[in-house]
Amino acid sequence: MNGDCIFKDDMPNILDYIEEADMIVFATPIYYFGFSAQIKSAIDRFYSRNGRIQSKHLKSVFIATAWNDDEVVMSGIKKHIDILIDYLNLDNQGMILAKGYGYPGASTEKYYKEEAYHLGKRV
Ligand SMILES: Cc1cc2nc3c(=O)[nH]c(=O)nc-3n(C[C@H](O)[C@H](O)[C@H](O)COP(=O)(O)O)c2cc1C
Repeated sequence: MNGDCIFKDDMPNILDYIEEADMIVFATPIYYFGFSAQIKSAIDRFYSRNGRIQSKHLKSVFIATAWNDDEVVMSGIKKHIDILIDYLNLDNQGMILAKGYGYPGASTEKYYKEEAYHLGKRV
């Protein structure tokens, strides 16, 4: 924690951008009721900068999409996001938890796009 990451790849460059940013937007499909492994592995790499990220009180937005349309589908990730916001001391600007995308045309019929648009305008 709070030192150079031992993995020498491109992620430290991305973490530099995150430290300079005013806001971070997390966007993921729902995979087995949680984050996709790709975004989770990026979040895991925050570990070397935890203290610096926490001290910035970065604005954040979370966007997730799911195939299913039932109540339970977002319940796990919602809890996880809440804990992450608290732990990383993020300044939550909003979440779009878009469910029911399991058929062609869903993205034009559903109202989540408008929700995302208004959230984007607001921040
Ligand atoms: C490995 C995998 C796991 C998934 N798990 C879920 C799930 O638990 N619940 C759900 O509603 N959708 C699940 N999905 C569907 C994705 O959430 C859905 O495909 C995505 O939100 C829409 O993005 P797409 O149009 O790129 O597929 C899963 C998809 C994959 C590939």
